[in-house]
Amino acid sequence: MSSPIKVSQGATYSRILAVAGARGNRVVDNAEMCTIIDSSDEWIQQRTGIIERRWVDDGQNVLSLAIAAARKAVERSGVPAEQIDGVLVSSVSNTRRFPSLATQVASALGLPNPAAADLSAACAGFCYGISLADSMVRTGSAHHVLVVGVEVLSKQTNYTDRSTAFLFGDGAGAVVIGPSDTPAIGPAVWGSEINTAEIIHSDDFEAGIAGGFEPMIHMDGHSVFRWATSYIVEKTVEVLEASGLRPDQLDVFIPHQANNRITDAMLRRLKLPESVVVSRDIKHMGNASAASIPIAMDALLESGEAKSGDNALVIGFGAGLVFAGQVVVLP
Ligand code: UT7
Repeated sequence: MSSPIKVSQGATYSRILAVAGARGNRVVDNAEMCTIIDSSDEWIQQRTGIIERRWVDDGQNVLSLAIAAARKAVERSGVPAEQIDGVLVSSVSNTRRFPSLATQVASALGLPNPAAADLSAACAGFCYGISLADSMVRTGSAHHVLVVGVEVLSKQTNYTDRSTAFLFGDGAGAVVIGPSDTPAIGPAVWGSEINTAEIIHSDDFEAGIAGGFEPMIHMDGHSVFRWATSYIVEKTVEVLEASGLRPDQLDVFIPHQANNRITDAMLRRLKLPESVVVSRDIKHMGNASAASIPIAMDALLESGEAKSGDNALVIGFGAGLVFAGQVVVLP
C-alpha cells in the first residue's frame, strides 16, 4: 500500500557556483623539513614532487581555515547568506568531538539555520561532499550547499617517522553548490574497502589520554601507493566513463594531491590529451587530505591555467580506505 508521505523534488541539475581556498601561513620547505627528519630535498622531490608544504601559524587553526575558505567561496558565489541552507564540512582534524565544524562555520558566516553536519571520509571527503550536495540540491532538501574540506595535519604528524612526516600540509577549500540549467556535476564513482582500516589510521584518542600521548597519523605508505596506482587508477577511468565524456572532452584533471607519482600513473592509464591541465599543487602544499582538491581547483582558476566552464575530473582517495570521484564543470 502506498504511503501518503510527500517527497521533495529540487532542481534538475546542480553546479559549483564558486570555489575558494585558504592555506596555512607558514611555508616549510624541504630544507627545513630535513632539520626535523633524516632525509633530503632530492629524495622528497623525487618520491613525491613536494618542494614545500604549508602549515598553520600560531594564529590559525582548523576552524579559522574553514571559515576563511568558506567566507570567500560564499562571497564569490553571490548567493545571499539566507539562501544557503546546507553546510557540509569534511575533515579529520576537528579538535573537538562536537559541536561540528559545520555548525561553527555556519555561525561565523551568519547563515541562518542551515542543515549542517561534518563528514569523515579523509582524503576522499571533499568529493563525498560534492555528490551529497548535488543530491541535496536535486532532491530539493536544500537550495544552496556550502561544502568545505579542511585539515590541520601538521598537528597530527609523527615527526619521528621519516616515511610520513614530510608529506602533510594544512589548509581549507570550499565550494558553493546550487541549481543549474545544464548538467555540471557527473555521477559519483565511490566506495570503500573492507579490512583496510589499519593501512592509514590515527591513534585511538582514549588510549592517547590514558597513555599521555597525542594521537598521530600512521600510514603504510607502500600499501596505499600500490592500491592508488592500481585500483584507484581504474576507478579514475570509471569516473570519466560515468560522466559520458571522451578523454578529449576533459579540460582539467585534479586528483587528490597525495603524490605526483600516483598522478603520473593515473595519466598513463587515462591517456588524456596533452592539452589537459593537470594539477600539481602538491609541490607547494603537501598533502592536505580533504582540502587538497578544492585548494588545487582554486589555484588553477586563480592562475588562469583553468577557466570557468572547463570540465574537470576530481578524485579523492585515502584512509578507510575510501574513494570518491566525479567530473564537474568549473565555476
Ligand atoms: O593521502 C592519503 C593517501 N596517501 C597516499 O597516497 C600516500 C601513498 N604512499 C606514498 O606516497 C609513498 O609510499 C611515500 C611517499 C609515503 C613513500 O615513498 P616510497 O617510495 O613508498 O618509499 P618507502 O617507504 O618504500 O621507502 C623506500 C626507501 C627505504 O629505504 P630502503 O629500505 O629501500 O633502503 C626507506 O628507508 O626510502 C627510505 N626512506 C627515506 N629516505 C629518505 C623512507 N623515508 C625516507 C625519507 N628520506 N623521508
